[in-house]
Amino acid sequence: MEFSLQQDASQLDTASSVILPLADLTGGISTLTTDSLKAADNLLSGAISHAIASGDLSSKFKSSQLFLNAGPGPDRILVIGTGTPEQLSGRKYRQLVQAAWSQISSNPGHSVLNQLTTADTKSLDLNSKVRLSVEALVQACYRFDQFKTNNKNIVPIPNMVLLAQTSSQAQLDQSTATAQAMDLCRDLGNLPGNVCTPSFLAEQGHKLAAGSDKVITQVLEEAEMESLGMHSLLSVGKGSAEPSKLIVINYQGGEEGTQPHVLVGKGITFDSGGISIKPGAAMDEMKYDMCGAASVMGAMQAIINMGLKANVVAIVASAENMPSSTASKPGDIYTTMSGKTVEVLNTDAEGRLVLCDALTYAERFNPKTVVDVATLTGACIMALGHHTSAVLSNDDQFAKGLMKAGNQAFDSVWQLPMGEEYQEQLDSNFADLGNIGGRAAGTITAACFLSRFTESYTWAHLDIAGTAWVSGAKKGATGRCVPLLVQHLVNQV
Ligand code: BES
Ligand code: MN
Ligand code: ZN
Repeated sequence: MEFSLQQDASQLDTASSVILPLADLTGGISTLTTDSLKAADNLLSGAISHAIASGDLSSKFKSSQLFLNAGPGPDRILVIGTGTPEQLSGRKYRQLVQAAWSQISSNPGHSVLNQLTTADTKSLDLNSKVRLSVEALVQACYRFDQFKTNNKNIVPIPNMVLLAQTSSQAQLDQSTATAQAMDLCRDLGNLPGNVCTPSFLAEQGHKLAAGSDKVITQVLEEAEMESLGMHSLLSVGKGSAEPSKLIVINYQGGEEGTQPHVLVGKGITFDSGGISIKPGAAMDEMKYDMCGAASVMGAMQAIINMGLKANVVAIVASAENMPSSTASKPGDIYTTMSGKTVEVLNTDAEGRLVLCDALTYAERFNPKTVVDVATLTGACIMALGHHTSAVLSNDDQFAKGLMKAGNQAFDSVWQLPMGEEYQEQLDSNFADLGNIGGRAAGTITAACFLSRFTESYTWAHLDIAGTAWVSGAKKGATGRCVPLLVQHLVNQV
């Protein structure tokens, strides 16, 4: 879907379909409050006023009526109730855009003028409405049907014109880049584990570099990781026939020599648990255990397309966690790249084992900041459910900045504490630390584990275990936390 901006609300005639908001500004009485509604009512010889008078249409949230127009002007006019300005939150606004789209998506024509950017809201500025419109529409058009043999029902995708001043162009560019990057993130997540292997992710890393002379992708193979001493990372793939990869995507959009921001992604392309094998129910969803990697790669695609003026390095630590006679076992001890030793008490706590070596590797870039992203703990779902990601950091201000970026991007994240008292849960009788911290505070002790490898720089960890995909009938990757990462990087320049 291509997006553009139009400034003049009254110019309806160039679009084949128009979406108009009908706000509740008068305590439930629906009236034509905008010039656009009045103009459309004229074009339709009073049909909108008539629908309101007859009770078929109201300003109630998501009440809607599609009018066909045989005369001059657009072929279709959709009027949709937005409720009161107080009720119209970011979440509701997204639902509104998707409800409008579902009314016209079967036959939108060549272009749609979306005036929902003028909807009256208390809490949303124009840029937020532009962002939410673009992301919600692209999401609504998202299909993942490449493995269906009957996938030829191609729905026409119109050009989408948003009503907004040209000052919103930068927001529009960021939003389209973000929305496309969410599609990439969703695709990588939804791909099955037998296709999306560490080698496949490495190819995707090379693809990101192909179109731009500002990007260099380098893939470290097992032999190179061995000589760097990444024995913790390598331990995770020992039971798998798929070779592990460390994928490094280096984007030089800023001044030469300025410190980069580093993103690190967990790329476990399937997490069976290894010898500490998981129960069978819903185990297919462990193909999503590379969604941290997918978010990071999506964010890189977005900033490359935006030409962000910053240096950013993405490091994806990728392996497949499988049981076999060559797999690592509970009790095995490995030396990490940092020199610290780890006792693997549970092979299912593998994410931290790949991330710790990637975080040590990040030191060589002399990073300004490092953010790692991972579907790290089931405990995060217990703590925050499926709505909010977790952030844990060795710098409170940095964590606050990420929460702010999350609010700006409508991709929320909430800070969990990381006091030193939790660190003791990682004590091991036989090595410097164990890879699990007991049943209590699993998300925090996982972050504590990572914090032992991030002492030399400003660092935050994002646990997206509850937000990266949805289960059930609508099973699929969400594209989170691409919006948060992109906004975070934009806020750094
Ligand atoms: N990838 C999982 C975490 C996960 C589980 C995310 C379910 C989303 C849904 C991770 O590798 C894992 O298995 N974590 C264990 C850690 C435990 C063994 C300390 C967990 O959360 O149970
Ligand atoms: Mn696991
Ligand atoms: Zn995992």
